[in-house]
Parts: sequence; structure tokens; C-alpha cells
Amino acid sequence: MTAPRRPLALITGASRGIGAATARLLAPRYDLVLGGRDEKRLETLAGELTEAGPVAVRTVAVELTDDDALAAALDGIDRLDALVHSAGVGELGTVAETTAQTWRHQFDVNVVAVAETTRLLLPALRAAGADTGADVVLVNSGSGLTARAGWGSYAASKFALRAFGDALRAEESGHGIRVTSVHPGRVDTAMQERVVAHEGGEYDGSRFLRPESVGAAILAALTATRDAHLTEIVVRPQG
Ligand SMILES: NC(=O)c1ccc[n+]([C@@H]2O[C@H](COP(=O)([O-])OP(=O)(O)OC[C@H]3O[C@@H](n4cnc5c(N)ncnc54)[C@H](OP(=O)(O)O)[C@@H]3O)[C@@H](O)[C@H]2O)c1
Repeated sequence: MTAPRRPLALITGASRGIGAATARLLAPRYDLVLGGRDEKRLETLAGELTEAGPVAVRTVAVELTDDDALAAALDGIDRLDALVHSAGVGELGTVAETTAQTWRHQFDVNVVAVAETTRLLLPALRAAGADTGADVVLVNSGSGLTARAGWGSYAASKFALRAFGDALRAEESGHGIRVTSVHPGRVDTAMQERVVAHEGGEYDGSRFLRPESVGAAILAALTATRDAHLTEIVVRPQG
């Protein structure tokens, strides 16, 4: 008797932070493609996961803003059950101090690369969607719902990501694809350390959400019964 097919999930930004925590939570259920740029960190995580259980893991070290490299890296994936976009950058500054270069880079990583990765993988997502259903999860932010002083270009990119998700959901639900925007508050990751350094404060990660708590929200979206569609999830630190 052949073992039942394990679904496949691709996670961008899996080399650290929320993406890595999500990979650890998904490994018991999904085979994984781990995206990021830091090949060593990706390989270390792949080794940890395959040692812990019967999961097939592939790593894809690719700069998401390099269209040709991205297309080459994703070539050959013909069925994908879940796509989790966790890669992102958080570059802060007031409108007065934010240059066009920062605006472009932030939109390039947080929006354009997400759209292009999704576009390239849509045939694979539709293949799963027509069979057992497929999911796209966008790791957004509280800044995708409220724009505060000093967070303009980051918030604008996350508002755009929200709009992308809404359009994708409207277009693809007929293909069996659910789209979930997850909006976490501050999370204890390398990105948050840079944010606190920018703000001039002392870093205390215990005040923030744990990355695995955001991963748990992502898992909830993916494992919701197929009659249900968790379109938005807001996760705030308790207390
Ligand atoms: N941390 C927070 O407080 C917080 C709160 C709300 C939302 N978020 C969102 O959560 C997501 C994950 O953030 P995090 O805190 O986990 O950040 P993180 O620890 O800094 O990790 C960011 C990940 O994105 C990848 N990445 C960044 N730029 C990339 C590029 N150009 N090409 C390919 N990969 C790239 C990084 O890959 P390499 O390291 O391998 O280069 C890394 O794996 C982001 O979308 C962020 O906006 C974070």
C-alpha cells in the first residue's frame, strides 16, 4: 500500500524569524520548500526538520527581487498546496527622510516580489486548488491596517500587500484557492531588533509576540476546514 501524498508548502523568508518558525510548525503536515537568501541558515533548518520527522525539504536560496533567478528557482513546481509569503523588509523613517530608493526597495520586496512569486506559482496552486484546495498566506502587519508617523513607506507597502491579497482572493477563490492576510503586531525577530534600534530603545524581546505564535495563526488559516475561509487574522501581543 502506498503512503498518502503529503501536501507541499513553500515558505519565503524561511531562513529566520516568522518564516523559520512557520516551517517548524508546518513540517509535521507538509513537505516543504524553504525560501530565503542565506543558504547556510536554510540548510541548517532543513537538516533540523528532516532529523525531527518524515518531511521532505528542499531549499531555494534566491534574491526575490531578481526576476530571472526567481523564475529559474521556482521552475518545476507543478503542484503547490500552500504558499506562505513571510519574506519582507521593514525600513522605517519619516516621509521627510525617506528617499525614492527606500520606497522602491520596500515595495519591490514587500509587494512586487510577492505578486511575481504568486503569479509564477499560480498554475501549481490551481492544480492543488482544483483537487483538495490550496492556500496563499500573506504575512502582513498591523502597519497594513494603520499607518503611523515614521512608518510611512513600510505601511504603504503593507497596505498595498493587503490590496493585492483582496484582489487575488476575489480572482482565485473559484479555483479553490484561499487567501489569508495575517497582521501581527511586534514580533521578537531580527527585523524587530532593527526597528527598536532605529527608535533608540532598549531591546526586550519578551515584550513582543513570539514568531511561533504568528506561525500558529498561519497554521490555523491553512488547517481551517475547507468550508471556512480565514480572510484576515490580526495577532496582537497580549498584555
Ligand atoms: N518582526 C515583526 O515585528 C513583524 C511584525 C509584523 C509583520 N512582520 C512581517 O513579517 C514578515 C517576516 O518578518 P520577520 O520579523 O520574520 O523578519 P526577519 O527575521 O528579518 O526575516 C526576514 C526574512 O525575509 C527574507 N528576505 C528579506 N529580503 C529578501 C529578499 N530581497 N529576497 C529574499 N528573501 C528576503 C530574509 O532572508 P535572508 O535573511 O536569508 O536574507 C528572511 O528570511 C515580514 O513580511 C514582516 O514585514 C514582522
